[in-house]
Amino acid sequence: MATELFDKQKTIDLRRKHIGPSCKVFFSHDPIKIVRARGQYMYNEKDEKYLDCINNVAHVGHSHPAVVSAGAKQMELLNTNSRFLHDNLVQYAQRLQATLPDKLSVCYFVNSGSEANDLALRLAWQYSGHKDIITLDNAYHGHVSSLIEISPYKFHQLADREQNPHVHTALSPDVYRGKFREDHPDPATAYADDVKDIVNKAHEKGHKIAAFIAESLQSCGGQVIPPAGYFQKVAQHVRKAGGVVIADEVQVGFGRVGTHFWAFQLQGDDFVPDIVTMGKPIGNGHPMSCVVTTREVAEGFTASGMEYFNTFGGNPVSCAIGMAVLDVIEQENLQGNALEVGTYLTHLLEEMKEKHPLVGDIRGRGLFVGAELVRDRAKRTPATAEAQEVIYRLKEQRILLSADGPHRNVLKFKPPMCFSREDAELAVEKIDQILTDIEAALGMTLPDTAVSEHGSSKRKAHGEENGHHMYSNGKGHSLAPAAKSTKRIRT
Ligand SMILES: Cc1ncc(COP(=O)(O)O)c(C=O)c1O
Repeated sequence: MATELFDKQKTIDLRRKHIGPSCKVFFSHDPIKIVRARGQYMYNEKDEKYLDCINNVAHVGHSHPAVVSAGAKQMELLNTNSRFLHDNLVQYAQRLQATLPDKLSVCYFVNSGSEANDLALRLAWQYSGHKDIITLDNAYHGHVSSLIEISPYKFHQLADREQNPHVHTALSPDVYRGKFREDHPDPATAYADDVKDIVNKAHEKGHKIAAFIAESLQSCGGQVIPPAGYFQKVAQHVRKAGGVVIADEVQVGFGRVGTHFWAFQLQGDDFVPDIVTMGKPIGNGHPMSCVVTTREVAEGFTASGMEYFNTFGGNPVSCAIGMAVLDVIEQENLQGNALEVGTYLTHLLEEMKEKHPLVGDIRGRGLFVGAELVRDRAKRTPATAEAQEVIYRLKEQRILLSADGPHRNVLKFKPPMCFSREDAELAVEKIDQILTDIEAALGMTLPDTAVSEHGSSKRKAHGEENGHHMYSNGKGHSLAPAAKSTKRIRT
């Protein structure tokens, strides 16, 4: 049993007093206090066990002993900056490079996903000599100023935001909810043509494209799987304009997609980005990240004449931890597990979709899976409140899942890679029960799934009380409180 320093209420009070109010907790009306974790399980102050379906940082499992011990051993010996020669730095760079196509051979080690993406932008600006960046709608790339500007997921929340004239937002290549859907004959070309139009319009204004940046699979954007061939076509347009392609693998890298180590590889061997950024899973919770690029881009960056120095990036402890993570992925065949369990999870969710009108779409690769909830399958009306209800009620049953996407109606799975078939069965069984309850309360049935967005909806009450969304079955009986905030809390 783990110990706690303060009782939960005192922790809450101290947090309110001393931590910035814009730093949100999950389930703000009844936050969870976690005191220890192992594998895919987290434990609260009462030693109650939660199944973690969302933490892609604890990639090889929370507190993995091999990772902890590699970090501790190196800490005992030495930790210093990369201005000294150290074998861990070069050995780790070699190990990472071995997972990538040959031309991605030069590493810059940094400390967070944001730092990695910010540096990627600097590389692109310096190498191309251009200024403009193309990003995808609903994208999130990090919390520093340069990245908020290219993160519609964030800047859409600002009412008084000034549009940066050097940032262009392309359509998210979402074939379920986007402009070109699964019935389009060639969505990859249609979405890539949108990027081509942006390039042409920028040129007409005398602007030049430095980079196109995108997650290989959009995560905060709603677990979006771009159509095959999309990135190849985008790369043609962007490179023709003298820009580079940056693949953000901060959420989706390191074997999560099961069939490949990197999610950009899902597009085929004929697509290789110019810059890849890595974060979250890379250190299994230890703050570290990396930018990998080509020799040409790296030399272009050096040509500025400015040294690049990063106090913590690539220190011997981080590199030891990074190597231990790679070892565990290999030794425990976690990429294989992601493929097997992820396929099984997707299959269970697909089966569930057959029964539930609220489930509009199931999509995923490996252990990166989304279930999009809709009030009306034909209109694809986002079932935002219902998704929040599912998350809340799962939490009551000690299963941690989150809902994301522009409408916060996509249940997203991205668990530690040791997630098991039993875990998948448990999570889906609970979601199944919750959906059954919600649909009964709403009077939703298959095949006529329509619930009017106006008067005829069975949902009568939709008030808020002390941070609870009260959710009614129309008989004055509250089903359960759902999460209050309509703002997004990323995971
Ligand atoms: C796709 C993506 N890129 C970059 C980042 C930024 O990473 P960090 O929070 O480590 O700075 C995030 C964080 O959520 C992310 O989801």
